[in-house]
Amino acid sequence: MITTDIKKAKEALINGQLVAIPTETVYGLAGNAFSQIAVEKIFQLKKRPHHNPLIVHIKSAEYLSEIAREIPPMAQKLAHHFWPGPLTLVLKKHEKIQNLVTSGNDTVAVRIPNHQLTLELLQQLDFPLAAPSANPFGSISPTTAEHVYHYFKDELEVILDGGACEMGIESTIIGFENNQAILYRHGSLAIEEIEKIIGPIRYHTHNNETPKAPGMLTRHYAPKTKTYLTDDLTSLIAKFDGQKIGLLIFKNPVKSNHVVHQEILSSAGNYTEAASNLYGSMHHLDKLDLDVIIAQRLPDEHLGKTINDRLERATKNG
Ligand code: TXA
Ligand code: MG
Repeated sequence: MITTDIKKAKEALINGQLVAIPTETVYGLAGNAFSQIAVEKIFQLKKRPHHNPLIVHIKSAEYLSEIAREIPPMAQKLAHHFWPGPLTLVLKKHEKIQNLVTSGNDTVAVRIPNHQLTLELLQQLDFPLAAPSANPFGSISPTTAEHVYHYFKDELEVILDGGACEMGIESTIIGFENNQAILYRHGSLAIEEIEKIIGPIRYHTHNNETPKAPGMLTRHYAPKTKTYLTDDLTSLIAKFDGQKIGLLIFKNPVKSNHVVHQEILSSAGNYTEAASNLYGSMHHLDKLDLDVIIAQRLPDEHLGKTINDRLERATKNG
């Protein structure tokens, strides 16, 4: 059921059911973070491997001491600046946090989402919400209630409709190792903004066997349609001559008779606007029954980095 009624969402969550919640980044598939049954349901419905931990969503920073047992000064600074907002902090977990949520890790990922409906809902609950993005594992994240419904239909009791997500890409994830901040996942908060507050950040190097943040797994955020990423649109369009081609373009439309449809992320060339349109454009292109989607790489700065990261994962094999 798609609804704007917080009461329905609250009742479902108290009864151990799952609810899709709007956030400023993407829709989350939420359950009571303190309930093993609810958290297990999240993994099952999403078909998510158990080694991929969840983010815990809290209503205010006061609550942090019930989730994490150590909060480094750098983390406090970032929380102060960016919460509520699209920043997830990975901290040493409190014993109250069950291993199922953290996939057995000694750390927990936590954030305060910046969406009025979801903040109101959290205020009315006496437990935090564990919520991954509300899509089946590996597919494109949902940025509208309709995207969520398209994925789960009536398997999901309640979808709380908070409109289209303002930012449109997942939160940026930062962890702390040896007093150094480390980027685990590019996201809606540009690294440049974080570095203004705490100085240079290290990038996490990962491998696919033991991903630190499995959002970093190679193939992820992927349309069903075969998708390519390129700096050279003209050559790739020529290569697929005669096929039904869809384009995902940063700002300037391409003149070509071979192209069935073009999605322009931001005709003004604005990264924030481009990020907010990315998943919606990917969902749209994926429904057009195309032979191929060709995406254009963005300049590698600000949220261009985040968009390129998602496009790279969407176009990887395996
Ligand atoms: O914007 C967002 O972050 C959205 C909204 C719903 O809040 N949520 C989201 O969740 O993107 P999900 O599950 O799709 O991605 C969570 C990421 C995963 O890549 C996971 O591996 C990482 O967070 N993560 C969770 N706990 C972690 C931990 N203890 N250490 C490192 N990474 C962790
Ligand atoms: Mg996800």
